[in-house]
Order: sequence, then structure tokens, then C-alpha cells
Amino acid sequence: MKIAVAGGTGLVGRPTVEAVRRSGHDPVVLARSAGVDLTTGAGLATAMDGVDAVIDVTSIPAVDTSQVRAFFAAVTGHLLEAENDAGVRHHVVLSIVGIDRVPDKGHYAGKREQERLALSGPVPASVVRATQFFDFAAQMVGWLRRGESAELPPLLIQPVAVTDVADVLVEVAVGEPVNGICELAGPETQDLVDMARRTLAARGESLRLIPTWRGRYGVEAAGEVLLPGPDTRIAPTTFDDWLHHPDRFGP
Ligand SMILES: NC(=O)c1ccc[n+]([C@@H]2O[C@H](COP(=O)([O-])OP(=O)(O)OC[C@H]3O[C@@H](n4cnc5c(N)ncnc54)[C@H](OP(=O)(O)O)[C@@H]3O)[C@@H](O)[C@H]2O)c1
Repeated sequence: MKIAVAGGTGLVGRPTVEAVRRSGHDPVVLARSAGVDLTTGAGLATAMDGVDAVIDVTSIPAVDTSQVRAFFAAVTGHLLEAENDAGVRHHVVLSIVGIDRVPDKGHYAGKREQERLALSGPVPASVVRATQFFDFAAQMVGWLRRGESAELPPLLIQPVAVTDVADVLVEVAVGEPVNGICELAGPETQDLVDMARRTLAARGESLRLIPTWRGRYGVEAAGEVLLPGPDTRIAPTTFDDWLHHPDRFGP
């Protein structure tokens, strides 16, 4: 099969392209750096020639709700239109566990719009909601660091390795469309502040971490809100394995 990966140069996009190759299929990368702008549709029709399935792992760093919503609406709209024209038989979206249980704002608002458009669009679709990536703690520290400290929400999450997410996305893409949502999580529940502390220690860095619900995530994200449901597929890689074997799980 020819499988296009929208966002195939990103954190989860790169291992997804690799997983497509490893499973004996032919990857096509859709990204601005590969000559395709999905917010305008430029370059898309040509790139879609002969594609059987599309995996959408695009993202935008913005946190402004209207900007994020507009990005995912434009990307999804252009993808679905081009897929419909090219006779693509399966559209797969990577989304996030719990997005319907947190306030409809910022990145989550864009993801909800992306899910809605994909599941009501002209191409049979599957939404794979994954939990936060193992990299999420380090990303949050990067975004929230102020000098020698960082204020982090003590989120309860069940994070997953991007390599495991990539494998499942490809497996879903080559299978029959779910026409709905399935969930994927890592094997263990973690506290985000503890994950950040262990990530920093493994990298030989030190920083004062202050738990707070007064920042990017409020108390509405506390408790089990971001944890997966009982029918969730559990991926094998543990956080400790990922942390201490970057050579195995690196880019
Ligand atoms: N982080 C988590 O813990 C987590 C958990 C579950 C699900 N997710 C979801 O995973 C998805 C991917 O996240 P990520 O961290 O892998 O993203 P990322 O590293 O920021 O990569 C974003 C990708 O989107 C492409 N892109 C951005 N704007 C584009 C445009 N206008 N046209 C074409 N391509 C464009 C980028 O390529 P170019 O810059 O070359 O265009 C890049 O390949 C997100 O939608 C996120 O919601 C994340």
C-alpha cells in the first residue's frame, strides 16, 4: 500500500514513516518541508496520486484557541477533499485520550474539531486517541521553564512511546476503517512532575519543579480525567525503558 503521513517530519511523524517502511508499505511525506502546505492545499493533489491511506499526525505549536481550530480545520478539510478526489480508502487521525473531558480550548479545541470533521467527512475514517507521549514531560518543562524553576501541573497520565503509537497507526491504516474512535495508552500510570524529574535526572540536568494547577492546566484536568478507559489498547514500552535506552527509541 501507499500510505501518506501528514506531518511525517514531526515527533511522531518520523517513526510513523519508519513504521510504514518496516511493514513493507510505501510512505509519502506530506509536510511543508516536503513541498506540501496543508493549510493551503498547495502541492497536495500531486502528492496524493496513488495513495491508499492517509495518517494525519500534523500539529501546530500555537495555544490560541481560534488559531489552533483554524489550523486543524484547514488541514483536515484539504486532506479530505484531496483524498476523496484521489480515491483514498482510509483516513486515520491521531488524537488525544480525554479531550472530551477537558475544557474545549487551546490545542484540545483544535483536536476536537479535527476529530469531528474526520468522522463526518467523505472518506472512511478511524480516530486513534493516544495518551501523552513520554516526551511530554520534557516538552512541558521547555515551555514552562522560567530561569532555574518550572511550574508544572501534577497531571495523572498513562504515557506512551511515540514508536508504539507509530506502529499502531500503521496497523490501523492498513486495516478496515473503524468509523469511530479507539484508544491507546502506555503500560503504567505516571505523575507528570515525577516524569519531568526523572527525565531531567536521566539527562543530567537539575531544575526546581513546582507543582501547580494555576498554569496551563487547571484543576479540571486533575484526577482521572486524562487516563484511558477500560477498553484501551496497552502498548508495551515502559517509561523507564524509554528513558534509559534513548538509542532504541530516539529519532
Ligand atoms: N504530544 C503528545 O503528548 C501527544 C499525545 C497524543 C496525541 N498527540 C498529537 O500528535 C500530533 C503530532 O504531534 P507531534 O508532537 O508529533 O507534532 P510536531 O512534532 O510538532 O510535528 C508537526 C508536523 O506537522 C507538520 N506541519 C505543520 N504545519 C504544516 C502545514 N501547514 N502543512 C503541512 N504540514 C505541516 C510539520 O512539518 P513541517 O513543519 O515541515 O510543515 C510536522 O511534520 C498532534 O496533532 C498532537 O495533538 C500528541
